[in-house]
Amino acid sequence: MCGIVGYVGEQQALGVVVDGLRRLEYRGYDSGGVAVAADGALHTQKRSGKLANLDKALDERPLPASSAGVGHTRWATHGSPTDRNAHPHLDCRQRLAVVHNGIIENFAALRAELERSGHDLVSDTDTEVVAHLLEVEVTRGADLTRAMQAVCGRLEGAFTLVATSADDPSRVVGARRNSPLVVGLGEGENFLASDVAAFIAHTREAMELGQDQVVTITADAVEVTDFAGNPVDAARYHVDWDLSAAEKGGYDWFMRKEIYEQPRAVADTLLGRRGAEGELQLDEMRLSDEELREIDKIIVIACGTAFYAGLVAKYAIEHWTRVPCEVELASEFRYRDPILDKATLVVAISQSGETMDTLMAIRHARRQRSRVLAICNTNGSTIPRESDAVIYTHAGPEIGVASTKGFLTQVVACYLLGLYLAQVRGTKYGDEITWILDKLSQMPTEIQQVLDSMEPVHALARDLAQTQSVLFLGRHTGYPVALEGALKLKELAYIHAEGFAAGELKHGPIALVEKGVPVFVIVPPRGRDSLHDKVVSNIQEIRARGARTIVLAEEDDDVVAPYADQLVPLPKVPTLMQPLVATVPLQVFACELATARGHDVDQPRNLAKSVTVE
Ligand code: G6P
Repeated sequence: MCGIVGYVGEQQALGVVVDGLRRLEYRGYDSGGVAVAADGALHTQKRSGKLANLDKALDERPLPASSAGVGHTRWATHGSPTDRNAHPHLDCRQRLAVVHNGIIENFAALRAELERSGHDLVSDTDTEVVAHLLEVEVTRGADLTRAMQAVCGRLEGAFTLVATSADDPSRVVGARRNSPLVVGLGEGENFLASDVAAFIAHTREAMELGQDQVVTITADAVEVTDFAGNPVDAARYHVDWDLSAAEKGGYDWFMRKEIYEQPRAVADTLLGRRGAEGELQLDEMRLSDEELREIDKIIVIACGTAFYAGLVAKYAIEHWTRVPCEVELASEFRYRDPILDKATLVVAISQSGETMDTLMAIRHARRQRSRVLAICNTNGSTIPRESDAVIYTHAGPEIGVASTKGFLTQVVACYLLGLYLAQVRGTKYGDEITWILDKLSQMPTEIQQVLDSMEPVHALARDLAQTQSVLFLGRHTGYPVALEGALKLKELAYIHAEGFAAGELKHGPIALVEKGVPVFVIVPPRGRDSLHDKVVSNIQEIRARGARTIVLAEEDDDVVAPYADQLVPLPKVPTLMQPLVATVPLQVFACELATARGHDVDQPRNLAKSVTVE
């Protein structure tokens, strides 16, 4: 949540910072603001609402040329999203500017202390205390770096901070604890940002910052220390995607682009996973075969869409490995005192690698000596760094706030993990694993086939644009798909949408069915025990009560066809692969329906892509 940019270098800081904010706007869009240091003074501009409002304000009152600047796009926590509460926040003398992501939990005590000693705080934010605490240190003679080190030692909670000073425009200083901050390494310029997307137009060389570190950038140097001022080494890495991946490439929404990128994203997630003998190889797996053989329980933790990916994966993991697998919301996990030990493998799924609840859950698991494996899309992010092992999803940057390619690639990565465990533990024969991997590698083609036949789904979305409520039913792996379909619609269209297990229909949800209510039903492939027929019976039951049935079923399923008001054909794939094709029409439906209602699909109200506060 909140996007942060800092810059020092040869270019005009304002342009670099605002351009960076534009690429981070998915992180929050309640307000935007910038500050540049020039002519011995700080110059700021900030506006509530989306960045377009800040752009307009900057057109009306341009800021002077400068080689250093900071910027912020906000997802409000403390204080409503007004101009006054927008970042940057300044000290009493207006010589220091600070932007912040996170929550400073002891801000009330710090604010009271500052006010007692005469400081005048003008906003309702927790952030503003930092500007004044820095002021105290700087007026005692510290430079901005030392001041930041001292102030961070006093803060509780989660924070990324970036500050600049009118008195030293050659440097920008950042700090992080439990919130993301990466360094972009340029030639004669350096960058700080919440995410590499902010500087990918300028450099693909980056540096990770660890927990409780302070970084100082100048045009030619980067220095990293701990909060006590001791120098630390920071790892450098190369970003394996470029500017075009962070742009819309002709699509109107990032989300639509990301939906259509799914065949490529799934293919990239599968790339390079087979060894010389056709066996599965996971290069990033830092756990030994012996450690993997010791595991007697798997707990998947995640939030939002990633949680639903975990629910899908449970079916495959248990089936292939015969190891019990629980799936739990990260926000619930650590508060219920879960039973964990060395033999528990905790799998943390997170597209961003920064979701606070998931991060806190893995820390809890590691304190209990459990092994933690991250499934993540973001190189250098906190969750994989703090895990024992990682499988990267290689989906490329996901910028639309509602996750799409993130979900599909998370399911695929979980399947790779399940198969790898089965291989190491010997619960599947090699040729069985090869068969499943072959099927998985056909999935990009199957997903493409679904994407190529979406026109009727577009028309349906337009037709249902004014509907008040949509239900989703599924069974087995179709159940989490139903949950994900409902979540997409809530996130984007702001209408009532609920997913149910089809077997539970008669235990309550059927009471919601009345004439004309659209109900999506994900029908299991035929031959899947008797589940197919049971779901067909459910369709008849809701149809008899007036539901409008929208049925996702195998393309040649003539048993269900007579009961479908609208049939969305799916390619014939194995049961465990069906979520990879069945989710796609639901994503498309939500995207189109939200568009038809005139909503901003990429930046739905009240949401942020990466939830970095609890
Ligand atoms: C937010 C996003 C969701 C995402 C969830 C988990 O709620 O809006 O799209 O699924 O966070 O994010 P993560 O980065 O941990 O996968």
